[in-house]
Formats: sequence, C-alpha cells, structure tokens
Amino acid sequence: MKLQNQIAIITGASSGIGKAVAKSLALEGAKVIINYPFEKTKADAQAVLDDIKQAGGDGIIFQADVSKETDVQNMFAATIQQFGTVDILVNNAGIQSDAPFEEMTLDKWNAVIGVNLTGQFLCAREAIKEFLRRGIDETKSVAAGKIICMSSVHQIIPWAGHANYAASKGGINMLMQTLAQEFAPKKIRINSICPGAIQTPINHNAWATPEALNSLLTLIPYKRIGQPEDIGKAAVWLASDESDYVCGTSIYVDGGMTLFPGFTTNG
Ligand code: BGC
Repeated sequence: MKLQNQIAIITGASSGIGKAVAKSLALEGAKVIINYPFEKTKADAQAVLDDIKQAGGDGIIFQADVSKETDVQNMFAATIQQFGTVDILVNNAGIQSDAPFEEMTLDKWNAVIGVNLTGQFLCAREAIKEFLRRGIDETKSVAAGKIICMSSVHQIIPWAGHANYAASKGGINMLMQTLAQEFAPKKIRINSICPGAIQTPINHNAWATPEALNSLLTLIPYKRIGQPEDIGKAAVWLASDESDYVCGTSIYVDGGMTLFPGFTTNG
C-alpha cells in the first residue's frame, strides 16, 4: 500500500474525476475526506464512501463549498480534529459555466474563478499551514505534504466559448508552480494533473452521442476518451513517495490531446 494511513482531502469527490481519485487513494491505504459542495450531492458522496468501505477502505464525507473561506477552514479543522492531520490535498473541485464571451455574465465568470481558482488557493493555504506545523512524519512519507492540483489541458490550449474556465486553469498552473517553488525547501511537493477529455458529467455533451464522440476523437491521437480511473492512477503516483523528486510539474493525462493533432495531416 503506497499511501498507508495518510489522510487525504479530495475536493469535489462526489462525482467525476474526484470520485475516482478518492477511490484510488483509498485503495492504497489513505483515509479519504470526500468533499462535496451542496446538500443535494450528499447522497452521491455517501455512495462513494460506501463503495470505498466495501472495498476495505475508510474515510468520511464533508460538505464544503471550496469557494468559501469559512467552509474550507471548517473542513480542514474537522479533518485535523478527527484524524490528527492532513497529508495529501487533491485540489480537484471544478465547474464549467460556458458562454460566448460577449454574453458572459460577471456571475458566470465569478462562479468559475471562485470554485476552480480561488477554491484551490483557499484549500492549498489550509493544507500548507498544516504541513508546516507538522513537518515530515517518516512513518508515512519522506515529504512533509503533497498537493495535487487538478488542472486541464486548457491550462495551455485556448478554448473559445470557455474564457472563464481556460483562465481559471491557466491561473492554476501559475499558482501551482509558484507554491511549488515557495515550499519545495520545506519538503512540500505540489504538482498538477492536466486531464484531457475524461468521460464524466462535466463534458457529457462531448460524448453522449456517437457523432459527438467521433468529433471529440479527432482531437485525441490515442483514439479513446479518458476514464476517471486514468486520472486516479496518476494521482496515486503523484501522492506517493514514488514520485518524490517530482516537484512543480504538470502531468498531462490526455491521450495526446496536447500534441496538436490537427497538424497530423496539415501544416
Ligand atoms: C473540460 C472538459 C473537456 C476537456 C477537453 C476539460 O478540462 O472540463 O469539458 O472535454 O477539458 O477539452
């Protein structure tokens, strides 16, 4: 077990990529805090926990809107009170609220920046405070703490009609690199995973019909849509000591989406 007894908070873990990451970390021995945003997603979070327990893992569910400072502080305080500390943060919670730019309302802009970018700031700050307080616990890891930022291929691929989302992911990249530089001397490792098209509710329209899926596959040299488990495996590695020398890096798990597939037969 690569993450035995480590305490991992996974934000936005009631569905999609977060759910798979929570399961993958739990199967490697981590106790997982399955964060969910609202009352109406509580049952989904509980189902994730039930699955994990059935597979021999352990954890709790916790409601917090990561864009709200007090919610985030309460989640970390409750985790530390119950489990003693936090070893791993997976900054995963993310939303899309798309619009042609000239029609994008400030509400849409703020909602996406609030969850995707401010949420990562707030959670990272609480995690780092705890990592600095505790330092290295060699019974668990050679690092003093690990943060995985869930970014996207859209931290480098511009995305028309999704300016708020792309801006949030570009921001995550610089947040991640800056924090990695600032806290590497304290043995805190901070990295990003950049998923491509992963089959989850967030991009339902992109795979729900054969036509949509075929069109999507023209953007993916590896010719399959990604599965949440593809990201879960990368997260286990980045959270474990097997990646101990990996610091401030983005790992693209995208079937080659960032390889400019349009140039295969053009240019
Ligand atoms: C978005 C998905 C999209 C994928 C590839 C992700 O970050 O959330 O909606 O399918 O990028 O474009």
